[in-house]
Amino acid sequence: MSNTNKPVPGEETFYPLNEPAIGEVYRDVGVYPQNTKVPALFQPLTLKGVTFKNRIFTAPMCQYSSYNGYATDWHLVHIGGLATRGTGAVCMEATAVVAEGRISPEDLGIWSDSHIPPLERIVRFAHAQGTKIGIQLAHAGRKASTLSTWVHSDIAKSRVADTNVAQENENGWPNRVYGPSEIPFAHDYPKPIPMTEQDIQEVEGAFATAIERCKKAGFDFIEIHAAHGYLMHEFVSPLSNVRTDQYGGSLENRLRFPLRVIKRCRSAWSKPLFVRISAADWAEGPEKVGDEWKQWGIEQSTIFVKKMEEIGVDLVDCSSGGNWSEQKLPIGPGYQVPFAEALKKACPNLIISAVGLITDPHQAESYLQSGKADVISLARELIRNPHWPIYAAQELGVAVHVANQYQRGWTRMLTPQKKE
Ligand SMILES: Cc1cc2nc3c(=O)[nH]c(=O)nc-3n(C[C@H](O)[C@H](O)[C@H](O)COP(=O)(O)O)c2cc1C
Repeated sequence: MSNTNKPVPGEETFYPLNEPAIGEVYRDVGVYPQNTKVPALFQPLTLKGVTFKNRIFTAPMCQYSSYNGYATDWHLVHIGGLATRGTGAVCMEATAVVAEGRISPEDLGIWSDSHIPPLERIVRFAHAQGTKIGIQLAHAGRKASTLSTWVHSDIAKSRVADTNVAQENENGWPNRVYGPSEIPFAHDYPKPIPMTEQDIQEVEGAFATAIERCKKAGFDFIEIHAAHGYLMHEFVSPLSNVRTDQYGGSLENRLRFPLRVIKRCRSAWSKPLFVRISAADWAEGPEKVGDEWKQWGIEQSTIFVKKMEEIGVDLVDCSSGGNWSEQKLPIGPGYQVPFAEALKKACPNLIISAVGLITDPHQAESYLQSGKADVISLARELIRNPHWPIYAAQELGVAVHVANQYQRGWTRMLTPQKKE
């Protein structure tokens, strides 16, 4: 037996090898009797031949830290920090497929080949740490050219900009903001230009080109952003889409463009394909009155997701809101889980991810145990506690591998427990 600090093979620099991967359960129950029964959160998941070591996924989180769309060392540290702390997958933030599809001037982008190398570096680091990594491909639609969150206001609201619009002299493009219809998100948002058939085809093509760049960067999965009031959500919702052509009106018409993008991405990408949706607009009143759809909701979402399943989407990440400025969210622990549950019931063979105010390991485990979802995605809890997967293992009484360098902080979780 050789007593060397084994390196990750094939890397130019020295990284100690993690065996098993960080956040993966130890399978040797002789050493860890407490691992005889593995919680659902730590069961691996294989999609299209890609194995995710557990079911705790890092949700995409905009960092507003790019210049001209380029990933920087901030992204390497931020994503790298999550990739070393045990989530089964890390999804990089909303990444614009065209420059005018950025939410803010500082969004990440993938509209040129020169965006690939810094992304590839991050992917390579995540892989060296044994973590699967994906990217959320996005177009902000009518919510483009807006200010980065902290530029608009501070949390205390001691300073609030008088508009959300990023002007030309603030690196914005307020006169080149597109959407399905000429309806701004709110009075202090850009006025969108209704997309022509050519605009629609160009965006569809940009998604396909972005996929080719994702292949070069080496991503394991792609998530299409169809949530939070951005372009795809704008097309499906009757609140933001009042078109009278083949892309508006009936549900079939409103779904046409997003489904075409998803289909195009599916045919270009053989690895796992995820789609994030908003399951409801949370505007006042019902989703449907008589034969008329009044706002986007779970009934239409279910039809949308069934079509995605037919196209071959592997996972649907179920969020909500973002398309109606007066939305009333029933904020509380797991408040979006009922939507995930409804989709899971309608599409039992499709992998469904639940997201939104999931903070407690027992809460998260219960959603999987009861079949409401197959995967849990976390955002803010991982900002507060990037080690959440390891903490969850400790709380659920199971031993998982911690990055070699961090093990001394987790000796309680890593101590074998005697069989009772
Ligand atoms: C800083 C920050 C940035 C976010 N950026 C994105 C994003 O790029 N794409 C996206 O779909 N959702 C984004 N979200 C939403 C999260 O992915 C998540 O759905 C939401 O925060 C609810 O989950 P949580 O309660 O675990 O935070 C962001 C959230 C935060 C806090």
